[in-house]
Amino acid sequence: MNVHDSEKMLGILEQHGYAETKDPHSADLIIFNTCSIRQKAEQKFYSELGKARAFKKKTPGMQIAVAGCIAQQEGENIIRKAPFVSFVFGPQNIHMLGNFVSGRIAATALDDNREIEQRDLPVKRTDEVRAWVTIMYGCNNFCSFCIVPYTRGRERSRPAKNILAEVRELAEKGYKEITLLGQNVNSYRSDMNFPGLLRMLDRVGGIERIRYVTSHPRDLSDELIAVIGDLPKVCEHIHLPLQSGSNKILRLMNRGYSFEEYVQKVLKLRDRIPDISITTDIIAGFPGETEDDHILTMDALEKIEFDGIFAFKFSPRRGTNASALENQLPDGITSVRLSQILETQNKITEMKNRLLEGTFQEILIEGEGKTDEKKLTGRTRTNKIVNIPWSDTAKGTLIFVEIIKGKQHSLEGRLSAQDQRE
Ligand code: 5AD
Ligand code: SF4
Repeated sequence: MNVHDSEKMLGILEQHGYAETKDPHSADLIIFNTCSIRQKAEQKFYSELGKARAFKKKTPGMQIAVAGCIAQQEGENIIRKAPFVSFVFGPQNIHMLGNFVSGRIAATALDDNREIEQRDLPVKRTDEVRAWVTIMYGCNNFCSFCIVPYTRGRERSRPAKNILAEVRELAEKGYKEITLLGQNVNSYRSDMNFPGLLRMLDRVGGIERIRYVTSHPRDLSDELIAVIGDLPKVCEHIHLPLQSGSNKILRLMNRGYSFEEYVQKVLKLRDRIPDISITTDIIAGFPGETEDDHILTMDALEKIEFDGIFAFKFSPRRGTNASALENQLPDGITSVRLSQILETQNKITEMKNRLLEGTFQEILIEGEGKTDEKKLTGRTRTNKIVNIPWSDTAKGTLIFVEIIKGKQHSLEGRLSAQDQRE
């Protein structure tokens, strides 16, 4: 979501005659688009901000702005602590960047933007094949660990017709894949619900793949499961954050489902879409998590066999309920639990990837391999990375490959002679 917010900032800046530079010394403006989901992200920002002060000293006239969730949280404190920062704006105030660069603004823009869902911003996209499309802003869930409802404000859905217009324009420009963005896409509601939106977007010619993040397990409906199964362009992948395998912890997290209910949804998904890949988020060391609770999470991984997970140490966020709970765990325990979770899942991910050996998969070519220029890289519909030997195949081509090796983080494939299509 932050990456896409940066694309909106670039869009606004381009309209004001700015161009991107990779060299911070030559910049007229440096914007930090910050994340405050965990402490680590915050620390990273503060150390980068120190470096920016040095750049500014060397480059007279350079301006520094701070955007994103840390900006929203800290507001004027940032300018008080770092007076060389000239503009602080939150994630609901990206549109104010235009005013700032034309010199028409105060030092902060942090209001609750009630029209955010109506206000379409220009976007300068960093990819030519895959595009992010915002469908909703904010979040109403107040999971007890999470800062997002405080920084991104209340949930608001973008009008379906605006989303359709954006997706049509993307198709005309040659984009093949869109990823619909929202903190909880399942609660999308304008004049249609999320399954309705998917049905509408599935008919846009030129777009080949539709993805979406993130789904909240509580709101994943039978209707949505049917639609994922039925619509040809909606990919067979769902990111469905579980967070913990312990019902006690899920309650403390205010997640609104039990582990058993989560498993029921997984079974329904796999029944309706047998080859679906399911990925998840796990938090290790939530306050009050006992060794037994942790073992329930480890058991959940073994039982569900996710295709991949993102696992994090619990990080107390100021102002959230979880940060005020008793029994905060020492970092030593949380670290051990996190590494046990990752170790268990690594074996499962590799096992699942190896099961794909010998199968044929459609991949969308994204370009040269990240680590090896002699390779091309693409993703399966199930969102797994596949590297194949380099050939003169354009980005955005859909191609069938045979999977020859399943590894920890990716698959290796080779061209399958018969079936290649644009
Ligand atoms: N500590 C650790 N992980 C967190 N997440 C959100 N807030 C926190 C926090 N305070 C994780 C959740 C969420 C993902 C985006 O980040 O797992 O699903
Ligand atoms: Fe945070 Fe929960 Fe909202 Fe996700 S659903 S953004 S974890 S409050």
